[in-house]
Amino acid sequence: MAREYGDFVQFDFGPFRMYFVNHPDLLHQILVEGAAKYYKTRLTKALLRPSLGEGLLINDGEPWKRQRKLIQPAFHAACIAAYADTMVTYTEHAMAEWQAGQTRWIDHDMMTLTLDIVIKTLFGEQLTPQEREAVGQAVDIGQKQVGDGFKTLFRMPAWVPTSARRRGEWATGVINDIIARFIAHYRQTRQDRGDLLAMMLAAVDEDGGMSDAQARDEAFTLIVAGHETTANTLTWAWHLLSQHPQAEAALHAELDRVLGGRKPTFADLPALTFTEAIVKETLRLYPAAYIIAREPQEDVCVGRYAVPHGRPILIAPYVTHRDPRWFDEPNTFKPERWLDDLEKRLPKLAYLPFGGGPRICIGNAFAMMEARLILATVAQRFQLRLAPGRRVEVDPLVTLRPKHGMPMVVQAR
Ligand code: HEM
Repeated sequence: MAREYGDFVQFDFGPFRMYFVNHPDLLHQILVEGAAKYYKTRLTKALLRPSLGEGLLINDGEPWKRQRKLIQPAFHAACIAAYADTMVTYTEHAMAEWQAGQTRWIDHDMMTLTLDIVIKTLFGEQLTPQEREAVGQAVDIGQKQVGDGFKTLFRMPAWVPTSARRRGEWATGVINDIIARFIAHYRQTRQDRGDLLAMMLAAVDEDGGMSDAQARDEAFTLIVAGHETTANTLTWAWHLLSQHPQAEAALHAELDRVLGGRKPTFADLPALTFTEAIVKETLRLYPAAYIIAREPQEDVCVGRYAVPHGRPILIAPYVTHRDPRWFDEPNTFKPERWLDDLEKRLPKLAYLPFGGGPRICIGNAFAMMEARLILATVAQRFQLRLAPGRRVEVDPLVTLRPKHGMPMVVQAR
């Protein structure tokens, strides 16, 4: 649509009129200047509320503002720096099983690793192997169900017990049980390990802080939003590196020069510029959150165009990121494009893997650090190649996943 009709497109999805907006100035108007006027869409909420409740991702207005303020401190730079060691140690631990010559489902490996990291850093806990597998299955079910929901015009009323709904309820139950276990453990020991869970539960106990249900909703949101997106980004990065040996060689050269075989730390990050460029370029080509949607709460003008109250507006980072007006050779993986301050020269919001404005991803810095540290830790020891005869295709569900998984052969460096 962008190619054929330009930066503002009105289209009908069955009986529903929608809008697609593609110019960075218009995105800025919606996500930054007019942010207070635009809420998450009713469809997004209907599909995600059964699992995420009123969590940060789909909350709006004053309740969203209050929750964001309560949770934000856990993502301040100093807190995040303290997570770096856990990220590296967990990566080394995961790699201990890897052997040269083995074919591994790297998408699954990345998912388990980032899940373990978010559970440890934000909740101070560990999952059992059974819980870990169950969360993986639960997230797969949720992705499929919600992803299909976005593409379906007709939905059964909420009370019809379809088999898909039952699977969805099982999936939500898996994660709810884990959160209940964490909360019970904390309440039993009253041990404040300084993690986000302790902080949220302290807010529950304060008058006018947070309700128990709200704490569950936030925990659910952070567990799911906090691992799946980064895992997909890393999976796409391994795929891209395996297809671009020159970029891979430049990555190895940087790691050898800066780290010389030792573990990466938080302090090394500023020197790992090419590693960062790889993450940025991966997020440009495969932004995990490939669509962002909003609904104006009043009649609005987006640029010269009128959009009535309540109509969904779609923004597609996937499309904006591949626009030749902002990126030369837009479909080519060229991490080096980020090395000379490209980001400062781009129009604001021409690159928006984490969204923009007040609702920008709360885990932005967390994810960028995690992706760089995991890439650096793994790429020091191994290189990965797509298993022979396997196809790679994107599966645009809630996030952008590889449709057939990512089986890769592990090679020692
Ligand atoms: C590469 C990894 C990630 C990507 C690409 C990503 C992308 C995004 C995007 C685009 C949004 C804004 C959605 C919108 O405006 O509608 C968002 C919101 C959010 N993300 Fe992330 N995210 C990532 C990692 C994380 C991590 C690690 C966490 C938590 C640990 C997290 C938690 C959240 C939450 C809670 C929100 C909602 C924030 C709010 O509305 O106030 N994300 N993310």
